[in-house]
Amino acid sequence: MKNILITGGAGFIGSHVVRLFVNNYPNYHIYNLDALTYAGNLENITDISEASNYTFVKGNIKDIDFINALFKKHQFDAVIHLAAESHVDRSITNPNDFIETNMLGTANLLNAFRAIWQDNYEDKLFYHVSTDEVYGSLGKTGLFTETTSYDPQSPYAASKASSDHIVRAYGNTYGLPFVISNCSNNYGANQFPEKLIPLFINNIKTSKSLPVYGDGQYTRDWLFVEDHATAIDLIFHKGKNEETYNIGGFNEWTNLDLIHLLCEQLDEKLGQEKGTAAKLITYVKDRAGHDRRYAIDATKLSNELGWNPSVTFEQGLSKTIDWYLENEAWMNNITSGSYKEYYKKMYE
Ligand code: NAD
Ligand code: TYD
Repeated sequence: MKNILITGGAGFIGSHVVRLFVNNYPNYHIYNLDALTYAGNLENITDISEASNYTFVKGNIKDIDFINALFKKHQFDAVIHLAAESHVDRSITNPNDFIETNMLGTANLLNAFRAIWQDNYEDKLFYHVSTDEVYGSLGKTGLFTETTSYDPQSPYAASKASSDHIVRAYGNTYGLPFVISNCSNNYGANQFPEKLIPLFINNIKTSKSLPVYGDGQYTRDWLFVEDHATAIDLIFHKGKNEETYNIGGFNEWTNLDLIHLLCEQLDEKLGQEKGTAAKLITYVKDRAGHDRRYAIDATKLSNELGWNPSVTFEQGLSKTIDWYLENEAWMNNITSGSYKEYYKKMYE
């Protein structure tokens, strides 16, 4: 039995990763460490909460003593680190939250991992989950590869870039075994409705305006969250030590094209007249320092490890919309609390 620590497993992507590992690997005991910030939600993982190879631990990666004691107690063979502050807009208003959790929190985990293994790391691994935003913004052409220079533009991106550098430095200096993956924008079930897709699904459902930043011609590369989870599984088991893997679906959309597709699918699913949802589109003030375009070249992952996305964007988006329409209570629980204040500050 191996003890595996997954951090941030009550969040959006983490919950899908925890579920996959708990269900597929009975020989691993999965410890899910999460501080349950505004973004963490135990409702995301109720289906596996009673599994015999699963333990939830409420705790903060910023708390050094707590982290050291946890590592000492469970002697984790591997860490899959997803816990982070993850929303660019919040990083513009509160950058220090990002610096503390994403940079210092990551360092605390690395230090605790070193302390229990004393730099003897046979069959051990620290898997750091990161983002394509570390590479900065692309012009009209080109793709991010694993050798693209880091050029982060938002406090979120800079905090994640720093954490990637810290992980690599521990590998180089102390021989700590690691892999890093940098993934493009995810979408799917359980995403907090501050991010574009769940925010807009909820607003269309409740006939609220759809706030499009700037000219709406910003481009993102979208990946279905369950495909991210299978990529993490593959990289965790087959990835080479000290390597970086880019994860993406070769699936670029301008925000406006994506929003129109979302509107069309929702009009149909809600049984409303074509064009109803699109009438809610409202152009609002642009995000400060808004990155123009992200696009991932995932050739290395596909060629070396044989990973490919399992769904097209239209299929993934349709599944995602169905999930939000079928899980009204999940959305209502989130949007009835402190979310109201956030929404007011951001959009009203
Ligand atoms: P999320 O905001 O939905 O979830 C983050 C989770 O981390 C929450 O459960 C939260 O409670 C927990 N957390 C936050 N601060 C913590 C702390 N100090 N201690 C312990 N737990 C804490 O984020 P997500 O979208 O699921 O992203 C997960 C990871 O994947 C992040 O590292 C993010 O940078 C990366 N990533 C996200 C995307 C994306 O499109 N969402 C794309 C690429 C990479
Ligand atoms: P988001 O989901 O926040 O992801 P990221 O900023 O990490 O890429 O935003 C995706 C795109 O949608 C980004 O270009 C910003 C834009 N956007 C809007 O136009 N309006 C909104 O209300 C939000 C949240 C995002």
